[in-house]
Amino acid sequence: MEFIVYEQKGAYGIITISREKALNALNSSVLDELSATLDAVNLDEVRCLILTGAGQKSFVAGADIGEMSTLTKAEGEAFGKKGNDVFRKLETFPIPVIAAVNGFALGGGCEISMSCDIRICSDNAVFGQPEVGLGITPGFGGTQRLARLVGAGMAKQMIYTARNIKADEALRIGLVNAVYTQEELMGAAEKMAAGIAKNAPIAVRNCKKAINEGLDADMDAAIVIEEKLFGDCFETEDQRYGMAFFLDKNKEKVKEPFKNC
Ligand code: CAA
Repeated sequence: MEFIVYEQKGAYGIITISREKALNALNSSVLDELSATLDAVNLDEVRCLILTGAGQKSFVAGADIGEMSTLTKAEGEAFGKKGNDVFRKLETFPIPVIAAVNGFALGGGCEISMSCDIRICSDNAVFGQPEVGLGITPGFGGTQRLARLVGAGMAKQMIYTARNIKADEALRIGLVNAVYTQEELMGAAEKMAAGIAKNAPIAVRNCKKAINEGLDADMDAAIVIEEKLFGDCFETEDQRYGMAFFLDKNKEKVKEPFKNC
């Protein structure tokens, strides 16, 4: 891998997009490597992922403008599909993904963060969809996910004006869940990942599936999705152990890690 660093730390993994000289901009190679990295995650051991960017300045400064500058209409569409396919893989990845946004998250950078389950950022983070200033639309899901996350009115304002927003405004509009200092960001992300990883893995995965699939369905269909995934947890060793532990009134007992089965 030239542009992706992957590190497994016990029950969680950290994916770092590492193309610092171009502020971690996404070219085709970065997208291919990210896809291959996701395919290689050991899902028997890893229960949560963190996605971040290398360096102190940028999470991801967008899709690679140099690579896009000479594309034909057909190539532009294919490049959009390439990004969308990888981002959808991230969004539907079986385990939760936390975006630790450590600086610029512009265009494709804002879009990749929105494909993650949870976004937290450092106080130097800048979010935006500058595409219309470059003569294109957001192309890696921005026209769809931003409106779903912050509402159509705010999404349209950000996309039509191409105005970047700082971390405090991203927090105010609900684009990120929390803002930390640069020094604190990764510690906070790792603490959250470890906290997620210690909960029953089948239940956490089913929660992700229920929320994601339910959001795309009407309420009658959505609650049926929930019922099925709720039912799916029963008879697992983790459900039996988790409930038996609660019901056991022995206060001295220490909770064992869940086994993922
Ligand atoms: N693509 C390619 N290269 C990029 C890049 C990008 N998106 N963003 C930054 N770079 C490169 C710069 O060209 C520069 O390279 P050189 O050193 O070889 O000149 C290097 O990264 C450092 O960048 P700057 O010198 O510009 O750094 P800065 O601190 O002055 O500015 C910045 C930082 C405000 C993020 C600025 O780099 C910038 O505006 N970048 C482009 C942001 C952008 O428009 N992103 C959206 C891309 S379109 C998109 O993503 C479409 C989509 O939805 C799929």
